[in-house]
Amino acid sequence: MAKHFRSIDEAGRDHVIRLLNLTDHMAEVNRRLHPKVPALRGRTVCNLFFEDSTRTRLSFDLAARRLSADTLTFTAASSSVNKGESLRDTVETLSAMGVDAFVVRHRSSGVPWQIEHWTDAAIVNAGDGWHAHPTQALLDAYTIMQRIGRSTDLDGLEVAIVGDIRHSRVARSTTEVLRLLGARVVHVAPATLLPPHPIAEQIGDLDEVIDRVDVLYMLRMQRERMDSALVPAGVEYVERFALTAERARRLRSDALLMHPGPMNRGVEMLVDPSEVPQSAILDQVTNGISARMAVLFDLLGSGTGLEDQ
Ligand code: CP
Repeated sequence: MAKHFRSIDEAGRDHVIRLLNLTDHMAEVNRRLHPKVPALRGRTVCNLFFEDSTRTRLSFDLAARRLSADTLTFTAASSSVNKGESLRDTVETLSAMGVDAFVVRHRSSGVPWQIEHWTDAAIVNAGDGWHAHPTQALLDAYTIMQRIGRSTDLDGLEVAIVGDIRHSRVARSTTEVLRLLGARVVHVAPATLLPPHPIAEQIGDLDEVIDRVDVLYMLRMQRERMDSALVPAGVEYVERFALTAERARRLRSDALLMHPGPMNRGVEMLVDPSEVPQSAILDQVTNGISARMAVLFDLLGSGTGLEDQ
């Protein structure tokens, strides 16, 4: 059994497939009238967030509660970090309260690996710098499987990830998981927003792929992580890379439109996704709860089947 879930690369194919199958079980739990099981009763999950979040933090919180775990939520802005307390002292202090799993988000890449030296708790990466966001990747893969009616074999599927690939931990982790399942991933961006070491085929023209792809995955500009010189002029970006109403009409009727959120309307999204029938964006949010329940259960569960719950 794995001790941590910190990147798709570290987890590997078998672990990812086990988590996707568990996500499907958790989705069944979440469809029940009373979506709660006693699987993690007596365990404590701490959300350790040093960077802003809406979806990830709240869905981990809900996921832990639906598994009957106790939850602690640490946000740096209202903590003793502001009085100079270090990351190490913060982790050791919370560990002393009996935390079984830390769900950590930090602006610096590598923090989920750094903190393992200061705690025996399981560690889940909820986003570290530009590096990885593996639970986003898991919920993305599950959403595609669910919407197109496929199992964990995505052989032959083409996914275009569009926008600020260079600064995006979501692009990195979601590309890794989809390639691991057999999908073809293309990265579509201006040259300045592509990574220096490509992990997928790179294309500089959204109009070249929009009519044919199975999944169009839009990203926001990670302005907090970039030098402004990297951003093409706003009008030029919108013209070449934004999802306009005209481009949305060119999507195949059976294609999916996805976005990890938060969305920048007027930058990468010039259409209201609620008016695009192919949109799976709210499904991604819903499935995030099931995927995070799967990760927590896999790390902290006693090994008994969910069927027994
Ligand atoms: N997709 C995502 O990580 O969203 P939050 O930053 O709101 O958690």
